[in-house]
Order: sequence, then structure tokens, then C-alpha cells
Amino acid sequence: MLKGKTIVIGVSGGIAVYKVCDVVSRLKKLNATVHVIMTEAATEFVAPLTFQSLSQQPVVVDMFEKVEKWDIEHIALAKAADIFLVAPATANIIGKMANGIADDMLSTTVMATKAPVLVAPAMNTNMYDNPIVQKNIKSLKEFGYQFIEPESGRLACGDMGKGKLADVDTIIQAINRELIKDQPMKGLKVLITAGPTREPLDPVRYLTNHSSGKMGYAIAEAAVLKGAEVTLISGPVTLREPTGLKDFVQIQTAEEMFSIVKENLSEQDIIIKSAAVADYRPRYYRDNKIKKSDEDLELQLNRNPDILKWIGMHKEDHQIIVGFAAETNDVMENGIKKLKAKQTDLIVINDITKAGAGFKSDTNKVTLVHKDGNEKSYPLMPKKDLAHIILENIIDIRKDG
Ligand code: CTP
Repeated sequence: MLKGKTIVIGVSGGIAVYKVCDVVSRLKKLNATVHVIMTEAATEFVAPLTFQSLSQQPVVVDMFEKVEKWDIEHIALAKAADIFLVAPATANIIGKMANGIADDMLSTTVMATKAPVLVAPAMNTNMYDNPIVQKNIKSLKEFGYQFIEPESGRLACGDMGKGKLADVDTIIQAINRELIKDQPMKGLKVLITAGPTREPLDPVRYLTNHSSGKMGYAIAEAAVLKGAEVTLISGPVTLREPTGLKDFVQIQTAEEMFSIVKENLSEQDIIIKSAAVADYRPRYYRDNKIKKSDEDLELQLNRNPDILKWIGMHKEDHQIIVGFAAETNDVMENGIKKLKAKQTDLIVINDITKAGAGFKSDTNKVTLVHKDGNEKSYPLMPKKDLAHIILENIIDIRKDG
């Protein structure tokens, strides 16, 4: 999704350096080119070799570089950057940037870049609150530098307060937001279903599954970022409603989901069915709580509509349909069967028995298979990142016409 984008990360010295390893790893999985510049102090916390292995690029470290080499290299990196991230940004580097001091590789490169600069501060709360630091931050903001606010909490030094490096998700989101300003899905209407359905048996019991809705909600958030008009139809989950939706409809049962999908289908350009729809519902709903007896109880179930199959049969030519296949065995074979049976343009297949790929986890490991048979497997990654990859695949399908 970030293919062709170059992100230069300036790492200054602080305990939060280790979190930036995760930022680099996630950006690489999104296919970005990542270059890391470390200050000498940063190497006290994490070895340059770690960043080199994660970024698969040589790491520039001040203390090892000769001054003549900076001249060439810092300009090359400053020019190559589509975005420049300084994380963690100490009071020291913020002070240098705000006052035009360029005396090492990081400060010279950041001064030479014309790319947008994102700054993620991390420092002791008293330092962060110091009026000199605050004045420097204010002055950088006035020059157009963007800040990813630190979080409050217990800091490494034991103090409580603001100063923790923003969490990795927030940093990745900020980079995405900056890089996706051209909004590749602007004007497109996207319908997404997410979460489980709940099929009631009596006033206190229901049939459902383990779906958390995390994948569908992540796709909804990513589609909003990309400029789409998103309708999210959600089963019962514990997630917060994403911001920026066109419509948010909460349902309980498969039949309710089906009727909302039918109502909204004709106006959509893209339909993404990530919901885990219950295939069966109790034949009878009891108005009163079912009382136990000494006998066993047999439940009778009725088939629910296959919503995705119905969409596949009724879709208009311009509409792109995406299905999901959560499998435990014969994973690819079953997934591809679903792609064909439900006439989708793309199917996201995952093996829910694999570590980190289950319903409730924040990560997933999938293979995407297109209608034309083209398939690609992706490494384990956060659902929030995978959401962008799924949408990029959809954008490519639209481009190919
Ligand atoms: N789906 C649907 N309506 C259903 C069942 C599934 O729209 N009644 C959709 C899901 O949203 C998903 C895809 O079909 O995009 C595959 O769902 P899954 O539960 O993996 O498969 P099923 O079709 O239910 O098949 P099986 O239970 O035999 O694996």
C-alpha cells in the first residue's frame, strides 16, 4: 500500500526507541522504503543493526560517519523522503530543529528536506511541560511541522504525566493520513459488513460466533481515510463507531443484516462482506425463558440467507464485491470455492487456526485471491494495515476495469 513511498525516520535517544522498531517493521510490511538515521544517543538504546535488519537498508549513524559523507548522503535522503518522521523526538532534537541548529546527520537532513515532517515527542513529563520545550514545539508547528502528541501515563522514569511516545498505531495512522492526501477512493460508495450476527433463542440466549468486528472496522476506517463514503453495517461488537462514516447501522440478526444490505445495495460501488454471518437461526423464538427439564434438549435450526451469494447474483456490472473466507482446513481450496460460488471479485482467505490470525486478534495473515486466479499471500500483520492492502487491491481492480 505504501509501495513507491520513501519514509525517512530520524531516531533520537530515548527509552521509546524500541517502539520505533515496530514502526519500521510495519511500514516495511506495507511495502514502503524506509531509511533510518540514528543519533549517537539512540544507539545506546537499540543497536543500528536492528534497524538495518528491519528496514533492509543501511542505517546512518552519526558517530560512524565522516563529515564529508554527510554532505552527499544527507541531501540524498532529504530529497528521497516522501515523509520524514522524527521518533522518538527528544527535547534536544526539537530544540535544534526549532532553532536552526544542524550539527549532526539527523538535524542536517531534517533541515534539508522539503517533505512533510512529523514529530513524535517522548520525554520526561517535566521536560515536556517546560516552557522552553513548549515554545520550540509551538514555533515548529508555526513552520508547518506536524506533531504526533505524546500520551499520558507512567513514564520510564516512574513519573506520571504526558510524555510517552504516541502508540505505534497512532504513528502509522498519521503517516497514512499524510500520504493518502490524494484520497484514491474519493466519491466512491463503499458498504462494509462487520462483526458477528446474533440469533436469539429466547429473551436471555442466542447463537453467535467469535467475530470481533476488528477487520471490518479497520477497513471502514481505512476507506474513510482514502476518501470513500462508507456505510458500515455492524453486528454486536464492543468497538467504537469509526469517525467519518456516511452511515452506521447496528443489527443483531442475519435477516436484519440482509434487509439493510438489500436496501443499500444499488447505490454502492464496492461491497465488502467481512461479517461472520450465522448460517442458521433457531426455528422458534420463545417469548419466555426456556426452563430446563431433566431431559436433553434438541434445537431445531433454520437456514439463514447467504447474503454474499445473493449480492453476487444481483450485483451490477460496475460493482466490486469482496468476500471473506475464514477456514480451518483445506483453506485455499475452500476459499476459492467460495470466491466462485458467491461470484466475488476478490476473496480474503485466512486460516483461523494459525497463531495471530483468529477472529479476536488484532492481527491477521491472509491470502487474497482475485476472480482471475491471481493470488498473493501476505505476512502476519495488524488488521489496520491489512485493511489498506485490501483496499489497494480493490483500487487496482477498478483501474484494470
Ligand atoms: N456470508 C454471508 N451470509 C451467510 C454466510 C456467509 O454473506 N449466511 C459471507 C460472509 O460475510 C463472508 C463469506 O460469505 O464474506 C464467507 O463466509 P464463511 O462463514 O467463511 O462461509 P460460509 O459461506 O458460511 O460457508 P461455510 O460455513 O460452509 O464455511
